[in-house]
This record gives sequence, structure tokens and C-alpha cells, in this order.
Amino acid sequence: MSWRRLEGALAVVTGASGGIGRAIALELANRRAQLVLTARRHDQLQAVAAEAVKRGAPQPTVVVGDIADPALRERLVAAARLTDRPLDLLVNNAGVSAHGLFADAGAERLEQILRVNFLAAAELTRLAIPLMRGADDPAILNVGSILAHRGIPHNSEYCASKAAFRAWSEAIRAELAGRGIDVVLLTPGTTDTEFFSHLIDKQREQLPWGSPQGMPPEAVARAAVRGLERRRREIVPGWKAKAFVLGARLAPGLMDRAMRRYGG
Ligand SMILES: NC(=O)c1ccc[n+]([C@@H]2O[C@H](COP(=O)([O-])OP(=O)(O)OC[C@H]3O[C@@H](n4cnc5c(N)ncnc54)[C@H](OP(=O)(O)O)[C@@H]3O)[C@@H](O)[C@H]2O)c1
Repeated sequence: MSWRRLEGALAVVTGASGGIGRAIALELANRRAQLVLTARRHDQLQAVAAEAVKRGAPQPTVVVGDIADPALRERLVAAARLTDRPLDLLVNNAGVSAHGLFADAGAERLEQILRVNFLAAAELTRLAIPLMRGADDPAILNVGSILAHRGIPHNSEYCASKAAFRAWSEAIRAELAGRGIDVVLLTPGTTDTEFFSHLIDKQREQLPWGSPQGMPPEAVARAAVRGLERRRREIVPGWKAKAFVLGARLAPGLMDRAMRRYGG
């Protein structure tokens, strides 16, 4: 099968105001994609839109709001519908995390992380599927994490949200194949973004294993868009992330023992 063409695609990108979402939006802008961008920070979104235009994309549509709000998701889909063309690509990227022991946190932390990272993306996808009817080669890119493959301490709620996101992605990949819609998972490891300064809760300054050097978000985005073009089912950018996923698969007992050291 030939490569997927993203030139001029109509693409909705969530969490596009910074980090990996911004970098994916700009990588798509390099292909002159027509972008519909969303996040809560208006100024940052406008700056991404301006940069997209500099790279040759048509003026993006910007929709500001909280992805966990059903009304925002309706507005986002309405904005995509206004373009009067089928949706080629949905990038479910918006995400948050928290650091701390599960037993010491309240229910709200678990609920908020599941709401943003999983429920909002799933419900947005439900709304977006009908918009893909008539698209040549439509796809959904779900930004997961290596922590969907292996839970680690101090990140329980985040790991749960990404594991749910991953399993759900696999299920709908089969369900949507008959409609010609592809579902692709992006599985990054640590990436140098503002993610760790956006934590919704933090019980300690540093995780016990410190702050590993991450990949630049631009490199993650390049791998993501190339993977979409090459019809990968899961994209794991960089050797560290690949080693983690392989270790989780081949040596779960060893990883259990290693993680236990950091448990309390
Ligand atoms: N950084 C890493 O090490 C890493 C590793 C693996 C996976 N990931 C995943 O990559 C994705 C992007 O994260 P990042 O590293 O780029 O972090 P980031 O720089 O903090 O970006 C997160 C994006 O999500 C948006 N967002 C967060 N909560 C939102 C909400 N309630 N409503 C609307 N938008 C919201 C933020 O925009 P506003 O603040 O403007 O709303 C921002 O654009 C996430 O799904 C994350 O789980 C990150």
C-alpha cells in the first residue's frame, strides 16, 4: 500500500498550544495542512497559528477551551465542519499528569487525569468519526505514553489513563477499519516539554529516579508524522522509549523488582 499523503490535510490537533501538540501541528503545517487547533491558552495557540502560516499552511482555526468540557468539544467539531470538507486527521494529544503516591491523593486527582487524558479524547473521537466520511485516507493519532505498557510508582493515575487510552485505541482500530479510518498510537518516552511544570499535583519536588534527559518535541513530532505517512500502527520514538517498551514486554518481573525500590 502506498504512503499516506498529509499534504493539505484537514487536521484537528488538541493540546496544540505547546510541547508535542505544537510540534505536531507545525510538522503538519510544513505539509500545508489546514489546521484546527485547540487548548486553553489563547495567546500560545495564536502564536502556533502564526508560525503555521509562516510555514505555508492556510490560516488555522483556533478554538480555545478545556477539552474536558463537552461544549468545547462540540465547538471544535463545529469549527471543523465549517471548512466544508471531510476531516482527514484527528490528533488526540492534550494530556496532564501528577506525581505522588496513590494512597495519599484524593479522588479528584484520578478523576481529572482520566477525564482529560482518556474520556475527553474518546468522546471527541466519537464526535469526529462522522466528519471523516468521504475523506480519502482518514486517520486518528492518539498520543499515549510508554507508561501505557508499564505502570510506574508515583504516576499511578497517569499510567491508568494511558493504559486505558491504549486498549481503547486497539479496540476502535478494529471497529473503524471497515470505515477506512486508521487508528495510530504515538508512544513517547520522556520528552522535553513543559509537561512536568504543568503537573496538576506534586507531592515531592523530584521523583526518586531524578529527571532523565528527554527527546526534543520536534523529534517526537517528526517521528509521529513520518509514522502516520508510513502507516505504522504504533510509533515509539527514540531508543530509550523502545528499550523501555521491550523491557516491559520481555522482563516484567525484573521491572517489578526495580520499581519496588522506588515505591514508598
Ligand atoms: N512530556 C513527556 O515526557 C511525555 C511523555 C509521553 C507522553 N506525553 C504525552 O504527550 C502529550 C502532550 O504533552 P506535552 O509533553 O507536550 O506536555 P505540555 O507541554 O504540558 O502540553 C500539554 C498540552 O495539552 C493541553 N492541555 C492540557 N490540559 C488541557 C485541558 N484540560 N484542556 C485543553 N487542553 C489541555 C495544554 O494546553 P493548555 O495548557 O493551553 O490548555 C498543552 O497544549 C500528553 O498527552 C502527554 O501525556 C508526554
